[in-house]
Amino acid sequence: MKNYIIIQNKIKNFKKKFIEVEGDKSLSIRFVLLSALTKGKCSAINLLKSEDVLNAINCINKLGIKTIFRKRKTEIFGKGLFGLKFKKNLTLNTGNSGTTARLLCSLLIDSNHHIKITGDESLKKRDMKRIINPLKKFGAFFKSKKGKLPMMIKGTKFPKPINFTENLGSAQCKSAVMIAALKTKGVTKLKCLPSRNHTELMFKNIFKIPIKIVKTKKYEMININGQKELKPFNYKIPGDISSASFFIVLTLLSKDKILKIKNINLNSSRTGVIKILKMMGGKIKILNLRNYKGEKIGDIMIRSTNKLKSINLNSRYNSSAIDEFLLIFLVACKCKGISIFNNLGELNKKESKRLDWGIKILSMMGVKVKRIKNSGLKIWGQENFNLNKKITIKNYLKDHRILMLCVIAGLTLGGNWKIFDQNCYKTSFPSFKKTLKKLGAKIK
Ligand code: S3P
Repeated sequence: MKNYIIIQNKIKNFKKKFIEVEGDKSLSIRFVLLSALTKGKCSAINLLKSEDVLNAINCINKLGIKTIFRKRKTEIFGKGLFGLKFKKNLTLNTGNSGTTARLLCSLLIDSNHHIKITGDESLKKRDMKRIINPLKKFGAFFKSKKGKLPMMIKGTKFPKPINFTENLGSAQCKSAVMIAALKTKGVTKLKCLPSRNHTELMFKNIFKIPIKIVKTKKYEMININGQKELKPFNYKIPGDISSASFFIVLTLLSKDKILKIKNINLNSSRTGVIKILKMMGGKIKILNLRNYKGEKIGDIMIRSTNKLKSINLNSRYNSSAIDEFLLIFLVACKCKGISIFNNLGELNKKESKRLDWGIKILSMMGVKVKRIKNSGLKIWGQENFNLNKKITIKNYLKDHRILMLCVIAGLTLGGNWKIFDQNCYKTSFPSFKKTLKKLGAKIK
């Protein structure tokens, strides 16, 4: 059976003036895991039904939490902070989802049996030490080989609050500590580098947990009071900016196109991609900006341009665009001049080694690209860059963002692409192909 996508034509005129993308993945996973800890029925409209989120749901189901899928609504029946059922010999498979694996462990710090956590081939290569270390301080026990999945976790009857410094700028690590702190009696003091702040916003605006956040020049200090009962809640999940970004770049790099993407989560800890693309000359406007439970939601208006310029990016933007760098590298190929990016070591810790893959794919495209010290790279762009090569992409650990990047590259810059593992976009963005086809893209 065919297991690849073929792209042979650039996209012509858009058949639609606006699109919507599916719900935000970070918010969807947080909704699922936090709902399980509330006491009562929570409901979400527009929950993302991607493989990552379905894996998170499957895991809480195995912990005794019921879910019901209605038409647009998903209901989760939480059993309270200490109400999860920890059965003997339980295995929780988190598939491809780093966020699920890392945040889920903090739900288990009071388990009375060993629980096995595992994942797919990609997730088994990713670092779990970043959450094992703080969760051990809470009192949990771990057994793993070199801090990788599969691993065993056993909790403690009395998790205790901790002091912890998070030095990676990882929202997953920060959130794991924050959620574990809920199960303790006392105050957990967390010092962390800035990263996406959805967990903080949910704690504050939905659960009314009195968390205190003090920002210094480098770090954020977060104090969390534990053992406050979480009330069930309703949530309307806005569109995912990481999914929208594929269409932002599709429009920017095509000829004479305009597109509006509606109802996107525009939390400033996530909008680095828009800021960076605007600095590169991208014509992007935000419309209809509004607040929702601490998050910001709005529409994005994009116009094509052939006047893109290179960038020497300050790494303070890195964390707010961490999942969008492959797309930013692609845009740099069409910018006049040399673009420089630094301190992107975390990219190689994602679903695949994305920094290495970025360099590899750009090289295959015939773009001059060079790795520089401090986990950075230089890209020599050309305003009129056009591709007419044959490119085959395979063995990339089914990294959803690599597949979608290559599709966008083919539809905007040309070339003859054969991309294996054709379905892996369903990890984060199940309607990706359908939305492209609706706009008029030819994908085989
Ligand atoms: C996520 C955080 C980011 C991001 C991931 C989702 C989250 O990872 O890459 O796709 O939902 O917290 P880190 O912040 O851990 O690097």
